[in-house]
Amino acid sequence: MVCDRENKSDLKFQNFKINGNRSLKGQIKISGAKNSSLVLLAASLLSDETITLTNVPNLTDIDKMKNILKSLGVLLKSEGEDLVISPQNLHLCELPYELVNGLRASFFCIGPLLTKLGEATLALPGGCKIGERPIEEHIKGLKALGAEIIIEDSLVKARINNNEQRLKGTNIKLNCPSVGATETLIMASTLAKGRTIIENAAREPEVQDLCFMLNKMGANIYGAGQSKIIIEGVTKLKGCSHKVIPDRIEAGTFLIAAASTFSSITVSPVIPNHLDSVIEKLRESGSKITINGNSISIKTNSIKAVNIQTAPFPGFPTDLQAPFTALMSIANGQSKISETIFENRMSHIKSLNQMGASIVVEDNTALINGVEFLNGQSLKGQDLRSSAAITIAALAAKGISRIEGLEHLDRGYENFENKLSNIGAEISRENAKNINHESKLSLDKSNKQTKNYQAA
Ligand code: UD1
Repeated sequence: MVCDRENKSDLKFQNFKINGNRSLKGQIKISGAKNSSLVLLAASLLSDETITLTNVPNLTDIDKMKNILKSLGVLLKSEGEDLVISPQNLHLCELPYELVNGLRASFFCIGPLLTKLGEATLALPGGCKIGERPIEEHIKGLKALGAEIIIEDSLVKARINNNEQRLKGTNIKLNCPSVGATETLIMASTLAKGRTIIENAAREPEVQDLCFMLNKMGANIYGAGQSKIIIEGVTKLKGCSHKVIPDRIEAGTFLIAAASTFSSITVSPVIPNHLDSVIEKLRESGSKITINGNSISIKTNSIKAVNIQTAPFPGFPTDLQAPFTALMSIANGQSKISETIFENRMSHIKSLNQMGASIVVEDNTALINGVEFLNGQSLKGQDLRSSAAITIAALAAKGISRIEGLEHLDRGYENFENKLSNIGAEISRENAKNINHESKLSLDKSNKQTKNYQAA
């Protein structure tokens, strides 16, 4: 079993067919945030009572996380818009490899299981192949809280070995503001004895969403959204209802798609300040952006080249680097896009060049010479955000494109093609087995400038 909804191997045979160069117009409803939902599902393991989550998106990553919770004895029930999570029968079990494989967020369970049940054994995490993505900050922090941890045969075995069977609050300074490590350590320390202080913590909105929900459950967390987070441990956490924040990365992806196709669209609901750095760059590149309550409208008549450098929140998000590179490939002038968070997040460059873009990669920086137009191609996305980027490029390009790699895209975008076709895009999903041979993937064409930057 991989997930309830869709067998992953089926997705590998599907592709988008896109007739590009169409202007988009209308409203797009933004789904709940994938990265929030994943960690909130894990946080529900901490509760002794039922948790009700609203606005959880329908995605393959979420299906995988739900299956992990089910394996741990958690009951999950969909009631209308709500997901009702009952963790009263939570128990330890060795999670089957096919459940945790490819889902880095599966590792979120280590904090709740360890702090609540006194032990946890989990496989080393997977996820998008966009770099090393180590977990030493998670491990170091859990050890500082008093856990004994050994890693052998790709398994992380953690346990609490003291009389009280409780982690102990302490001071932790992260070497880098890792989102996952911050979330793991916050969850673990909610039930620890005494005070935990996490310095150099991640400030991402999804970390804030986690803290808000945990506080509703009875945790004492101070400083969410700041780089110093203080947690006063409690002995029990209770149930609550919580609405997942809107997905800022999905919203940003659609805004960039609109800019790339010289369109006028509105995305909502969003929390506009979650997108400040993206809005700033879109404005700098010539788009007119209007914010009205929880909606953002964009109108684009021209695209100017701008430079970006990815950075932890509130900086420009690494998850929108690939989509923004697609936009810059048809900008007026030269731009420089530097990826500073992950070391292997340039796999879209080869595809963009195959469509006629002019991009050279040097040391994780894309040097882009904007071209007047891209041409439709048959291509394959290599990870979640690179699939989104080449879909955007195909929407902007002249002619027909076929995009494979939807098993990546469906991890993070709910109803992607429907949302786009509702605002005028010519995009449909078809079975890749039916594509004729001439138009089949030209992935093997080598490109000297980019050959070192494919996803691992
Ligand atoms: C999360 C998001 C992902 C986003 C990323 C950065 C989820 C499920 N995923 O991933 O979409 O792209 O944040 O915003 O929320 N690092 C270390 N040591 C560690 C941990 C991390 O060196 O122990 C490094 C990583 O190699 C990477 C950087 O820190 O270079 C950021 O990683 P991290 O913030 O941990 O990303 P994730 O939590 O995996």
